[in-house]
Amino acid sequence: MIKISKPSDLRRLREFLSSHAYDAARLTERIGRARPPAPGEDQQMFDSSREITTPNLLARLFLLGTRVDERTTREFMPQEIVELCLDCGLLSCRNGVVRAQVVIIPVEDLLFVSDAFHILGSDEAAEFVLPASTHSANFLRLLTMRAAVDSALDLGCGSGIHALFASRHAKRVVATDISERALLYTRFNAALNGIDNVECRAGSLFEPVTNQRFDLIVSNPPFVPGPGENFVYRDNPLELDEFCRQLVREAPAHLCDDGHLQMLCEWVEIAGESWPERLADWILGCDAWILHGTPVAPQQYVQQRSTDISGASIETASVSDWTAYFERHKVKAVHPGMIALRKRAGDNWLHVQNLPGDVTAPAGQAVADGIAAVEFIEACDDEALSEACLCLAEDLSAVQMKPEDGGGIYLRLENGLMTDAEIDAPVAAFINLFNGERTIKQCIEEFAAATDAEPDKLAGDLLSIIRVFVSRGFLVPVDLA
Ligand SMILES: C[S@@+](CC[C@H](N)C(=O)[O-])C[C@H]1O[C@@H](n2cnc3c(N)ncnc32)[C@H](O)[C@@H]1O
Repeated sequence: MIKISKPSDLRRLREFLSSHAYDAARLTERIGRARPPAPGEDQQMFDSSREITTPNLLARLFLLGTRVDERTTREFMPQEIVELCLDCGLLSCRNGVVRAQVVIIPVEDLLFVSDAFHILGSDEAAEFVLPASTHSANFLRLLTMRAAVDSALDLGCGSGIHALFASRHAKRVVATDISERALLYTRFNAALNGIDNVECRAGSLFEPVTNQRFDLIVSNPPFVPGPGENFVYRDNPLELDEFCRQLVREAPAHLCDDGHLQMLCEWVEIAGESWPERLADWILGCDAWILHGTPVAPQQYVQQRSTDISGASIETASVSDWTAYFERHKVKAVHPGMIALRKRAGDNWLHVQNLPGDVTAPAGQAVADGIAAVEFIEACDDEALSEACLCLAEDLSAVQMKPEDGGGIYLRLENGLMTDAEIDAPVAAFINLFNGERTIKQCIEEFAAATDAEPDKLAGDLLSIIRVFVSRGFLVPVDLA
């Protein structure tokens, strides 16, 4: 296992790595990516780092997991750095061959150390600590709201990616995990990156923070529903999605008023049941804004999950056991998403926003705007709504589709969530009336006059359209703009 060295030593290591181009931009430029290779990509990355230089040596050791002979390692790395890496357990040296025991992943300007992939083939595999390069970690990182807060909790911190990014906008961060190994990496990474406002605590779910409340809770929990318990980092240890349900149920007791939880989740849809109702049943005393990805049929889901993070097949909990488990529980689909809760007394709402693609740029502001928009809509009856002034979202684009593609107008918000819709020409003409100055009532009157209709007859339908368009972010109340 790794060992945490003196802060001054770790600062020296970080400076050494960055002075030898070990960052996301320069690794990508040189060897094609700043993450460990996906299956089949090893050779290409190996070829691009063939010329032995210090930056290529670092990439081979800490991204590709390549063995390097000791002489070359000592020739291209200063002795004090080699000794420091050996002493901390980042490198091992046996019979003249040096190998990394960890991967080092640059994310933005931070570095994250976690288990090397060969740990997956060892008897420590179940405790494997996930690299900060996974899709789920970065999906949640990009979706996290970054308002300045007093306190944040990262539940299930792994290598500490969410805790360390939260440390930049929260005065105080608590990082928890059931795995001591994960906590060690989070501590190491905080020290490596010179961050001193993250406190690590061991325990399951909210055990380590009894009676404590936070402004922000982030969690990328072990959400995979299935019969297997191969990996602490991913397998939901309870029946189906019960672990996530417990997290959602217990979170409000640990949120300050107006505090937020943002967690990734995979929930199951049971045949004959409505999944939004099932989710609503999990949530107490909070508004819920759910970013909903594409559901996956059980068999396809099992195929996708029957490999580990490195792409190797998992032997236990075979495809047929897993499929039979889903059949026994009448699972119709598995739904992926991000659940955002905001603690609020009063009548709470639940809004589902579909995510048509992936999230590749920071979208925390879009989540915050989405919550504010639904709150606005929920607080207005039709009469109050009619008096509101709206404008078109700044990041809205509209494209006229060709007749062979339906001839409609394609709306898309460039806010990181890629919210889109197809509308027809009359709806486009209606929403174009919103200039931030006219009230909704005036826009309906103007639209009715232009189409020779009675405003009162159109109002019901148009207000429903407005509710959908505001909640999706296409139209913005001027008070929120
Ligand atoms: C999907 S990994 C996420 C790690 C890290 N937050 C990330 O996004 O890369 C889930 C983490 O939850 C931890 N975990 C598993 N069961 C837990 C439990 N009962 N309570 C707290 N953490 C748990 C695992 O050890 C693992 O670090």
